[in-house]
Amino acid sequence: MLFDMENPQGFDPYEVLTSLVIPRPIAWVSTISPEGVLNLAPFSFYNAVCDEPPVVFISISKRDNGERKDTSRNILSTGEFVINLVSEEFLREVVISSEAFAPEISEFEKTGLKPAPCYKVKVPRIANTKAWLECKLLKHEELFDYDLIFGRVLFAGAEGLEINTLKPVGRIHGGFCKIVELSQSF
Ligand SMILES: Cc1cc2nc3c(=O)[nH]c(=O)nc-3n(C[C@H](O)[C@H](O)[C@H](O)COP(=O)(O)O)c2cc1C
Repeated sequence: MLFDMENPQGFDPYEVLTSLVIPRPIAWVSTISPEGVLNLAPFSFYNAVCDEPPVVFISISKRDNGERKDTSRNILSTGEFVINLVSEEFLREVVISSEAFAPEISEFEKTGLKPAPCYKVKVPRIANTKAWLECKLLKHEELFDYDLIFGRVLFAGAEGLEINTLKPVGRIHGGFCKIVELSQSF
């Protein structure tokens, strides 16, 4: 299959890109609005970009009407966010939290998830999450209709660092995948 991504005819470039850039980690981002509403949403255009100092990157599209998503708006106004790891048992809540609720509605209430305090930021993490990264906004760029968020990781918490403990879930095209470690003894 061949795809001219500059001149797409009969295919969706989004589908090709998200089917070929795989698997993607999912940042399940908690933020707090200036009014104090807790927000939660998943983003898979996400990765680590530096380790000294530790920096992560999230790309958040604007809504069809050109407005910023709640996550971008909250990060830009408070300068803080938390990335919660998505593990297998949270898939239902991840999907619920991706719905476009109004800013005054908290995805914590919609999912029934409980917030828990963080160590270095005021934004809470999800209680019972197996791992989380506490981040401070380092840099914001606008690229086309996207808010690019670079966050400095101030603090991390984890039940362990093994995938058997974390049971992480990745994003492949419109679905999810498990991560399985392959043996390196060829
Ligand atoms: C697994 C998953 C990954 C997603 N990745 C992204 C992404 O990388 N960028 C983006 O803008 N939206 C992404 N979305 C959609 C957002 O989660 C959705 O627009 C959400 O309503 C944003 O919420 P907010 O307005 O509270 O920030 C994703 C949805 C799912 C289910």
